[in-house]
Amino acid sequence: MKKIIVLISGGGSNLAALIQALKQQDIAQAEIIKVIADRDCAGKQHAFNANIPFAMIDRKLGAERFAQALNAAIADEADLIVLAGFLSIVPPSLIARFPRKIINLHPSLLPKFGGAGMYGMKVHQAVIEAGESESGCSVHYVDSGIDTGEIIAQAKVPVLPQDSAADLQQRIAPVEHQLLVKTVAELLSGNKS
Ligand code: GRF
Repeated sequence: MKKIIVLISGGGSNLAALIQALKQQDIAQAEIIKVIADRDCAGKQHAFNANIPFAMIDRKLGAERFAQALNAAIADEADLIVLAGFLSIVPPSLIARFPRKIINLHPSLLPKFGGAGMYGMKVHQAVIEAGESESGCSVHYVDSGIDTGEIIAQAKVPVLPQDSAADLQQRIAPVEHQLLVKTVAELLSGNKS
């Protein structure tokens, strides 16, 4: 069994999609061995419901203690670390331990609309203000920058003339769930690198 660790900060709908996909064997021969949050968040309930070990490592610990605690919570045996709506910067020491094994999901077509401060509804608002005709989501490897790592997979959706940021978020969310599940399945089975 391949071992996945999922890091969250929010509602955890992408965590829920992964849990469901594992249950249905859409992701084969794998399990989530731990969910880690950097704050109290609703997403932890998905871990509780699925009996997955959960840890909260408070982002307010300060960079050094946060990095130490996160490294201690993530065993060397992890095959894939999935940032599913994780808002903290990943410590360089963790990135160094897991080259090409940490992936992030972002709700835009990177490299557009990524970087510091670009998260959640702010991303969709920026896409609309820029007058884009399409948006989407990206899964990428995590490097030392913010949303700058190599892109692994993307999916597109149209942006319609009357769209609000919330409309766009709602159109992208289910597409993100599918893209994340598909990408995790392909990475773990070796069909993608
Ligand atoms: C997603 O839009 C993801 O792209 C971004 O944070 C959001 C997480 O949503 N990084 P959820 O917590 O999985 O519902």
